[in-house]
Order: sequence, then C-alpha cells, then structure tokens
Amino acid sequence: MPSYAVTGTSRGLGLGFVKTLSADPRNTVFAIVRSVTSAGELQKFVEDSIHKNTHIIEADNNDIQGIKAWLTLFIGFTVSDGASLMAYERASLTIDAFPSEETLEEDLLHYFKTNTLGPIHTINAFVPLLRKGDLKKCIVISTTAGSPRVAAETSFAHFVGYGISKAGVNLATAKYAARFKDEGIIFLAVTPGMVKTMPGTEEEVNKVLEPIAQKLRARYPHFEGPITVEQSVNDVLALIDRVTISESGSFVHRDGRDGDSV
Ligand SMILES: NC(=O)c1ccc[n+]([C@@H]2O[C@H](COP(=O)([O-])OP(=O)(O)OC[C@H]3O[C@@H](n4cnc5c(N)ncnc54)[C@H](OP(=O)(O)O)[C@@H]3O)[C@@H](O)[C@H]2O)c1
Repeated sequence: MPSYAVTGTSRGLGLGFVKTLSADPRNTVFAIVRSVTSAGELQKFVEDSIHKNTHIIEADNNDIQGIKAWLTLFIGFTVSDGASLMAYERASLTIDAFPSEETLEEDLLHYFKTNTLGPIHTINAFVPLLRKGDLKKCIVISTTAGSPRVAAETSFAHFVGYGISKAGVNLATAKYAARFKDEGIIFLAVTPGMVKTMPGTEEEVNKVLEPIAQKLRARYPHFEGPITVEQSVNDVLALIDRVTISESGSFVHRDGRDGDSV
C-alpha cells in the first residue's frame, strides 16, 4: 500500500503527479498545497475522484512548524517535491545586470529560501516517516538550469536565482543521500524535461518555450523540446520505480541519464 506525499500540487507537475498516482486505488496520495483556496483544480479533482484515496494538506514549504503540525497523519511513503519558484520577474537578467545590489540579493535569497531551504525543511520533516516506510524514496524535482556544466556549455546566462537555488537543492539531495545511505533511504534529484505547465493556449506556451528549445538544440541537436505534463509524470514515476540505492544522491534526467547534460 504505497503512500505518496507530493508538494506543489495546486498546478503543473505537482498536480500531474497527484492525478496519475491517485488513479491507482492501492495508492494513498497526500497532496500538499500552500493555500487550499488557490488550489481550485486540485480541489475539484479530489471531489470528483472515484477512489477517494487523495487527501489535501495545507502547508507552505517555508513554514517548518506548519509542516510538522500535520506529520502525525502519515505512516510511510515516497516524497516527491514539485514545489518551486521560477518567477519571470528579473529572470532574463544576467548576474551582472541587476538594477542594484539590493535587488540581486533580494532575488537570490528569495529563490534560495523557496527552492533550496523549502525542500530541506520539508525533507527533514519527512525523514521519520521515510524511515518507517517500505519504499524509502525521496524525489526532488530539479532542473538542468541547476547544472553548472549545462550553463557553461549553452551560454545560458540568465535564470540566475532559479539556477543557483536549484544547484543548491541538487547538492542538498546528495548530502541527504550521504547521510541516509546506510539506512537504505534513496534521494534523487530529477529533471522533468521542458514541460508545458505554464498557463495559456498551446500557441502562447510554444511561443515562450520554443525559442529556449531552439537555443538548446544549437548545442544539443537531439534536444526533445517541450513535452506534456502526463509524459513527464509517467517517465518520472517509472524512474522512481526502478531507482536503487546505488544511484542515491544523483542528479538525473527522467530517463535516468546524467542531469549535467541535456
Ligand atoms: N515546467 C518545466 O518545464 C520544468 C522544467 C524543469 C524543472 N521544473 C521543476 O518542476 C517543478 C514543478 O514545476 P511546474 O512547472 O509544475 O511549476 P508551476 O506550475 O509553477 O507550479 C509550482 C508549484 O509550486 C508551488 N509552490 C511555490 N512556492 C511554494 C512554497 N513556498 N511552498 C509550497 N508550494 C509552493 C505552487 O503553489 P501555488 O499555487 O501556491 O503558487 C505550485 O503548485 C519545479 O521544481 C520546477 O523547478 C519544471
């Protein structure tokens, strides 16, 4: 009877994980959102779902007391962390081009708090439950924007705060793996692909993503381009299923390839 806790489930990949996992009645799914009132699609999905195996829990990743408050509910599971922040405000600036030192510092600290420290607080809160669980797997959804090698190879100089905070969570994942290897708990940072999660029509979404895809193809001709939430979720879940303790701490693509590549 696997149990899954998924963060960032109001929309995008987090919601995609909840939908796919809850389709199997043997699973119990805990969908974590930071505000139930702004998670209308999730609420509707849970109300309409036939298996009644999904439970919504409200907690902000940055609010450690809030996370601890509902932890006694659980018995054992896999954690998949989909929450993150990739705000577009100032995202196109390079590291030397911020309007002031204060805005640079504000951005870096904001991203670090949400994308690095948030998952660390969440994982720390979940460790006692991971210990008791049968699966003992914790998956952090990361991104190739957090890869130093990819940044250098592709000349991607923007997404500064996002990339640095994700590189931080990749290393945190490796630290967890080192700490808990002898207890058999697997930690994995997974890049989900370029996934069409942003709001808008197909045309609007492609208009944003295709130029980035073109730039990546200039360096990596095999780059697949934008994919659907369903495809990404299915591939990540297949990876979670087959990952073993020998791979714990790695940063990988959803097909298991080295994440420090495209
Ligand atoms: N989409 C892609 O192409 C892509 C590519 C590479 C990596 N990723 C990674 O995949 C993950 C999910 O991305 P996405 O595209 O699905 O994002 P998304 O659609 O923007 O959804 C982000 C989710 O994170 C939640 N969240 C933000 N800050 C939070 C906090 N402090 N505490 C709790 N929840 C918080 C949001 O909740 P609210 O509704 O409350 O804001 C939302 O549910 C992220 O880690 C992202 O870095 C995505």
